[in-house]
Amino acid sequence: MSRLIVVSNRVPQPGAPSTGGLAVALRAALEAEGGIWMGWSGKTCPDDEDPGFTLHQNGAITWALSDLTERDLAEYYQGFANSALWPLFHYRLGLTEFARGDSAGYHRVNRLFAERLAGMVRPGDLTWVHDYHLLPLGSELRTRGISGRIGYFHHIPWPSPDVFLALPGAERLLQAMTAYDLIGFQTAVDAQNFEACLLRALPARRQGADMVCGTRRFRVGAFPISIDTAGFERRAAQAAGEPTLRRMRASLTGQRLLIGVDRLDYTKGIPERIGGFRRYLSDYPDQAGQVSFLQIAPRSRSDVEQYEALEREIATLAGQLAGEWGRLDWTPLRYVNRAFGQNVLAGLYRQADVALVTPLRDGMNLVAKEFVASQDPGNPGALVLSRFAGAVQELGNGAIVVNPYDQEAIAQAISRALAMPLPERQSRHTAMMRSLRANTVFDWCRTYLTALEGHEMGLEKLPA
Ligand code: G6P
Repeated sequence: MSRLIVVSNRVPQPGAPSTGGLAVALRAALEAEGGIWMGWSGKTCPDDEDPGFTLHQNGAITWALSDLTERDLAEYYQGFANSALWPLFHYRLGLTEFARGDSAGYHRVNRLFAERLAGMVRPGDLTWVHDYHLLPLGSELRTRGISGRIGYFHHIPWPSPDVFLALPGAERLLQAMTAYDLIGFQTAVDAQNFEACLLRALPARRQGADMVCGTRRFRVGAFPISIDTAGFERRAAQAAGEPTLRRMRASLTGQRLLIGVDRLDYTKGIPERIGGFRRYLSDYPDQAGQVSFLQIAPRSRSDVEQYEALEREIATLAGQLAGEWGRLDWTPLRYVNRAFGQNVLAGLYRQADVALVTPLRDGMNLVAKEFVASQDPGNPGALVLSRFAGAVQELGNGAIVVNPYDQEAIAQAISRALAMPLPERQSRHTAMMRSLRANTVFDWCRTYLTALEGHEMGLEKLPA
């Protein structure tokens, strides 16, 4: 029997209920097929010890979790993945730090994962590798004799060759990626950029729908990820009674609510967004006291220097705004570094009049999709969306699209969104919901795996 093997650096806690749409969809696919989810356990050990590797069986899923040494974590995760690849893939060459030691550590951890996984893969299994931490994993598996189908999905943007080829070792990574059978991206532009990198840096060529490089033939395509649309609609409709949400509503005392929800990351454009809101208040001073902006930004990757600096920058901006505009009975910006569960988030999205989703660059951005699915169709809120989020491909028909670098444009978009008449909000919401119903995270999963295997697997158990 063929099984599905999912590999990602970050793995949901095996026993805990899945919350994110991706985890829900992948678990459903693993349960339908039976299979393995492999990744980092979240634990580290001293450098002179062998990192532990544990297997837990839970229903049809085997969780295969590897520890990392402290050095591995520093070089592979904090170093190459998050100080070189992450900024580079988000077009931030100025923030990108290249270190040969980190690159060596990155390849070492990919080899470690491959060694551990190779012993578990059986002929006929389908392996699905996720995200930029594991670009060379497929090639390491091939070296260890795995000849079955191996796919890769890239969750973040893929930049143009002029940016990507600034990475020392770029050719080596591209060459390694030719080991995959299917390489999926969030948007057609990302897929085109990747193909352009291959054509520029390797002796690769296009042949029909495939790319060919040496003896390898593989496919490249766009598979936009999505959410559990119906699940979000249901959660949002049921959330109103939650005590946290009732208290939140009471605290608004009639004010309109703007909401932003992001991991605290420099790609999300949070300082520019706060600047846009500040500009809105100075352009429309009569709105002071009438509008409140809730920015939820759980801390992320705090051990990486750029993230620490960003935390300080945003805290300063938030403080300045509060000092400049705050009143005894009104706080313009509620800035919260905590993470919330999906039920509370769905309820907050539904309470909000406007979502500000203004990343400087984002592979997809699921907050935009979750916000739309959470709205009351009778009185939906408006979405302000960055032109540089992958989600604009599907939601551009209903969102107010902005340039996230342009703080005046953000201020105008806030004003326009708050003033938007109900019929316009409804018709925009209907258009966006059409896209979200046509492509849920379950469709994404099914479409990708069908393309990888070349025919339907037993995925009929995934929600329609
Ligand atoms: C992005 C990446 C994921 C990553 C997540 C959280 O969504 O595409 O691969 O898991 O951020 O980041 P973290 O570093 O905490 O895993």
